[in-house]
Amino acid sequence: MMRYAISTIFGLLSVSCSGSDVCKSSPCIGVDVYYVSLCPYSAKFIKDQLMPSYPDLKNYLDVKFIPYGKAKYKMNGSNKYEFECQHGPNECIANKAQICGYEAILNSNKTFEDKKSSAVELVGCAMSSANPVTAVPGCAKSMGLSAEIRKNMTDCMNSEMGDRLLAAYGDKTYALTPTVQATGIPAVVIDHVYSPENHNAAIDNFKNLICNRISEGKPTICSKESNGIINVQ
Ligand SMILES: *[C@@H]1O[C@H](CO)[C@@H](O)[C@H](O)[C@H]1NC(C)=O
Ligand SMILES: *[C@@H]1O[C@H](CO)[C@@H](O)[C@H](O)[C@H]1NC(C)=O
Ligand SMILES: *[C@@H]1O[C@H](CO)[C@@H](O)[C@H](O)[C@H]1NC(C)=O
Repeated sequence: MMRYAISTIFGLLSVSCSGSDVCKSSPCIGVDVYYVSLCPYSAKFIKDQLMPSYPDLKNYLDVKFIPYGKAKYKMNGSNKYEFECQHGPNECIANKAQICGYEAILNSNKTFEDKKSSAVELVGCAMSSANPVTAVPGCAKSMGLSAEIRKNMTDCMNSEMGDRLLAAYGDKTYALTPTVQATGIPAVVIDHVYSPENHNAAIDNFKNLICNRISEGKPTICSKESNGIINVQ
């Protein structure tokens, strides 16, 4: 089970963007969101930029969420994971809850398209909530995820599996170049290579960044001036 869950993040989901494997349309734009659950800037990107345009742009997007940031982990004397998160212990719980939710969706028998959308919906819901620490189970329920998926989600949160997954997301975060210490959090990575220009463009106007990369048959949202969100700096 464990092995399966981990191979999901680094296997299925790290399938390179080669057209129809991951996206229905071309180009297939990789969007890796390195964030933490209790950071208002992370929430702002997910809530105000990604979520509003996702339904219209999803056929072009391969979104991955990596909620870990500048946390640290180690194994203690009893071989248990110990985490130290940027905004304190509650953030570790909230990051883990989102990871467990995300992974339970990815391991479910939903269709690939459904998994992609549900994962974004779940993280979006949790990050839009007044209390991301406790939001995941309620979000899962209101989205209509099956009792079995929700059980797998809570089993993960309450077991060592959640810790192992959180650590695996930590390893993935440490593998980013430049480091998140240098990029800051959130870091939005377009097509698997971090660039400050793409990151800033994503934060300012995600929809335009994506639309600019679609050369033919742009979806109608691309001809609209804004995504309905007023950006107050
Ligand atoms: C290791 O961590 C676990 C869980 O956090 C804790 O219950 C245990 O007491 C710790 N053991 C040591 C030796 O620090
Ligand atoms: C729940 O997890 C079990 C393994 O623990 C897996 O066999 C089952 O398919 C999962 N169910 C769903 C709906 O994801
Ligand atoms: C997925 O599993 C559920 C039971 O957990 C079942 O009701 C449903 O029909 C399955 N869907 C598919 C597409 O296999």
